[in-house]
Parts: sequence; structure tokens; C-alpha cells
Amino acid sequence: MKAAGRESTPSVEYMNARDTYDEIADHYDDFVGGAEYRVPAWLIGEIRSKYGSDGKKAPLAVLDMGCANGYLGRCLTEAGVMEARFFGCDFSRQMVEQCRSLGGYELVLIHDLNHGVPMVESRVFDVVLACGCLEFLDSCDEVIRGTHRVLKTGGSALLTFEHRQSPDESDDTAGSGGDRRLDARARSTQEVETLLTSHGLTLRSMHTDIGYRSPTTGANVPYIFVHAERGQ
Ligand SMILES: C[S@@+](CC[C@H](N)C(=O)[O-])C[C@H]1O[C@@H](n2cnc3c(N)ncnc32)[C@H](O)[C@@H]1O
Repeated sequence: MKAAGRESTPSVEYMNARDTYDEIADHYDDFVGGAEYRVPAWLIGEIRSKYGSDGKKAPLAVLDMGCANGYLGRCLTEAGVMEARFFGCDFSRQMVEQCRSLGGYELVLIHDLNHGVPMVESRVFDVVLACGCLEFLDSCDEVIRGTHRVLKTGGSALLTFEHRQSPDESDDTAGSGGDRRLDARARSTQEVETLLTSHGLTLRSMHTDIGYRSPTTGANVPYIFVHAERGQ
């Protein structure tokens, strides 16, 4: 998800993302609350569909990549869908400090996902999240390769990608044309499927929808929502 700084520039360049997220770290919940962000509800539904409505088979070990201030962990905990031990990483120092001080995550690392998944043992996580952050990466190959590596057999990767739509699908009335220069980071559903399967992940579900509404431009930003699993 792209954020704008306090100066309300139309949208942040990907190159400035770290500075921008540092800047909004102390009010990230307000930012995301004003964005009609659809990821939490989707995550809650996917976790329920996999682990059952009480989700109490746990505690599940969850790696939240691009965790910001731990917003998603709090959403999942408050929804009561899982008992979990959350681990996070983010390249914004201020976000990591917020996440540590708000609590709920056992360990939070400053880490740039352009270097892949943090060096942890293989097959340790039941769930890996990468939501609202993959559109910032130069390439997703390393991060998806690492996701497969750190997932336990049968574990779930819950990922969002910015969706590159065909011109007739795009919502120009909402102003999405303003972000065209950023489209290079968006993907088609076919590209996402190929990316995941080439790294050994199996699709459990995939759908496209609005991911969020930009608080600054008002544009609806299309996402691909993916639930993939590690078979072996
Ligand atoms: C829109 S927020 C999403 C936060 C959280 N996952 C959520 O869904 O609410 C994007 C987060 O990704 C982080 N991020 C962006 N690029 C990153 C990178 N290369 N490595 C690590 N974190 C990154 C930002 O610092 C920011 O905290």
C-alpha cells in the first residue's frame, strides 16, 4: 500500500517508501483506517476457513513481513481467529520501534525484503504474511523462494500483490491514472500464479478486488489476494 507523507503529496515514489513509512509510523493505524483497507477482513476469513471458526489448534507461528507497527497481528488477535506467536520484519526503523513498543510481537527485525526473507531456520512458520508491501520490492523472487523455505509443510502464505489490470478493467474515474508510473510494480494474476508455483507453492485461493482506497488521491487500488500453501 502506498502512503503519502504529512505534506500530502499525491503518492509516494517507491524509492521514498522507507522515509515515508518512517514519517507515518506514529499514526499508521489512522492512515490505514482511512484507506478502507480490505486485507484484515480477508485474512480473518482465510484463517477461519483453514483453521476453523475458533482457530484454537494453535499457537501458530506467524511471520509478518512488512509488518509496519503490527497492525495485522492486532487485527487477527482481536478477531480471536487464532492463537499465535507473531514475528515481524520491516525496513522502516520507526515502524519497527512502534511495533516493538505496542507489543504483541515476540521479535521484530529491521530488514529489507529486497534481500529476501530474514535468515531464520527452514520450516518454522505455520503462516507467512506479506500484505501491502510486495509492490515496493524490486523483485519478488527471493522473498517467495524464502517464503517456501521458512514455511512448515502444509503452512500458509497469505500475500497481496498490486494488480496490473488491462486498460478496460481499470477504474480511471477514481483517479487510478495518477499512479500509472508505478504500474511496473503491479502484476497480472498469471504472473503471480507462475511466480508462486515456480517456487513450489500451491494456490489455495486467489481473487482480485480493491485492496484499499488511497487516502490522498481517492483512487481504488486493485489487489490480487493470494492464499498459497507449501505442500512438501
Ligand atoms: C502499507 S504498509 C503494510 C503494513 C502491513 N503489512 C499491513 O498490511 O497493514 C507497507 C509496509 O511495508 C514496508 N516495506 C516496504 N518496502 C519494504 C521492504 N523493501 N522491506 C521491508 N519492508 C518494506 C513499509 O515500511 C511499510 O511498513
